[in-house]
Amino acid sequence: MKRLGILISGRGSNLEAIADHIARGTLDAEIAIVIASRAEARGLEAARDRGLPAISIPSKGLDREVYDRLLLDELRKHAVDLVCLAGFMRLLSASFIRQFPNRILNIHPSLLPAFSGLDAQHQALEHGVKITGCTVHFVDEELDAGPIVIQAAVPVEAGDTVESLSARILKEEHRIYSEAIRIVLSGRYRIEARRVILI
Ligand code: GRF
Repeated sequence: MKRLGILISGRGSNLEAIADHIARGTLDAEIAIVIASRAEARGLEAARDRGLPAISIPSKGLDREVYDRLLLDELRKHAVDLVCLAGFMRLLSASFIRQFPNRILNIHPSLLPAFSGLDAQHQALEHGVKITGCTVHFVDEELDAGPIVIQAAVPVEAGDTVESLSARILKEEHRIYSEAIRIVLSGRYRIEARRVILI
């Protein structure tokens, strides 16, 4: 069974969705460890309520390389095959990323490369796009930039607020993250330049 390491900073709803897929048998994997960058992350509690191993490694005040070394030690200790960033609000160092080549996924609440960075839903509303969505991509050394595994489109509706739009996108996030994990764990893909090609 492939082992997931899930990194969070906050609410943890994507983490919960992944755990639900595993529990329902629609994703064949196990969550080896949940690591939060903040002790007060709500997702930590949700993980523990489900009996998942979950710890916090507070990042505050730590140098990036030092922090990433702590993360790496923990992920190695739990023999993690695939690292899933799920609302993890930190940039990872190049040396960390090199330890998991094409073995780190991230989910972002826009159709990348549009609206990378913070507050993607707000950016989409401000820009006035009619369609936005979410993206699961491999993590490389640039922010929100690695090869795209899956995207889902979500309409922007008249009268949308950041909250209503975020909620509509989140439903799709919860679906496509597990789908992307399934693809990557199956190994039935190859990457050509930036394109993830399913085999
Ligand atoms: C999601 O919108 C995700 O796309 C973004 O951060 C949010 C995390 O939400 N990277 P949650 O912590 O999984 O509920």
